Amino acid sequence: MKTKITEMFGIEHPVMQGGMHYVGFAELAAAVSNAGGLGTITGLTQKTPADLANEIAKCKDLTDKPFAVNLTFLPTVNAPDYPGYIKTIIEGGVKIVETAGRNPQPYLPYLKDAGIKVIHKCTSVRHALKAEKIGCDAVSVDGFECGGHPGEDDIPNMILLPRADEELTIPFVASGGMADARSLVAALAMGAEGMNMGTRFIATKEAPVHENVKQAILNATELDTRLVMRPLRNTERVMNNAAVERLLEKEARLGANIKFEDIIDEVAGVYPKIMMEGDMEIGAWSCGMVVGLINDIPTCQELIDRIMTEATDMIKNRLGNLLG
Ligand SMILES: Cc1cc2nc3c(=O)[nH]c(=O)nc-3n(C[C@H](O)[C@H](O)[C@H](O)COP(=O)(O)O)c2cc1C
Repeated sequence: MKTKITEMFGIEHPVMQGGMHYVGFAELAAAVSNAGGLGTITGLTQKTPADLANEIAKCKDLTDKPFAVNLTFLPTVNAPDYPGYIKTIIEGGVKIVETAGRNPQPYLPYLKDAGIKVIHKCTSVRHALKAEKIGCDAVSVDGFECGGHPGEDDIPNMILLPRADEELTIPFVASGGMADARSLVAALAMGAEGMNMGTRFIATKEAPVHENVKQAILNATELDTRLVMRPLRNTERVMNNAAVERLLEKEARLGANIKFEDIIDEVAGVYPKIMMEGDMEIGAWSCGMVVGLINDIPTCQELIDRIMTEATDMIKNRLGNLLG
């Protein structure tokens, strides 16, 4: 399938794996790219730029295909060494960067000068338009359904994607709630040039996370995610568990007075324990409503092949036949 996104990134299928903290290691990124999609290494999961350099080198050993690095610009006082990470990405010969979080404008000239394509992930049409204006090549439009940070507008993809289509000139991929061929065909129908998946790619054979995480995804339904940190205007969609219930109870009790320090036990530094050690009740971890559509643990190749085969059949036959 050829779209503006497959052309821009030099990939076979319009399917992307979004950056995921403590999930997006070289093994997963390479598996997605080898299957014809676009895999992504999560930059900030690597503690230093030197660690990221090693992860990029590892990914290059595992695939000859294009892959991306995600750089999430966090709203923190003690910012990570972003210039160092960017230098590493450029020197590592990475040709695609997925930015997310705050406005990437200060770093854009360095990436563009190095010939890197930038896809910025955003949760609103106004932020997507801003990304277009500052020179991003594409955007990933993340609807309210998404795992991770859906922003504060709460607009689901059935509205957000056609709105993006009405306003944007640069190509966009649909992100949030995407799981299968139905997602891809619907996204294309709403004007997207491809889809980005997070949660779905965690439940694959190559995702280098603890088996408990994959089982939690298989066991969950679309009713099992919660929104946390809304009072802090840092809303995150996470899988419900004991820690999340505790966190929500604190939010209800402390109301507008809640501070980040009040919930630090439930959110800070929990990812390695969850993703690596499989301690599923220790804290809040991002997860999309799309868990309700995930019932197996295929390889990335099986998953992407299935999506593309079924999408082709759906477009040619199921939809084509409607026309008689
Ligand atoms: C466990 C997990 C960790 C994530 N970590 C990040 C991250 O560090 N940076 C980022 O930009 N997005 C992150 N995301 C968001 C994904 O890249 C993607 O936008 C989102 O998962 C799409 O929604 P879906 O889960 O419904 O597919 C994360 C998502 C999950 C599920």
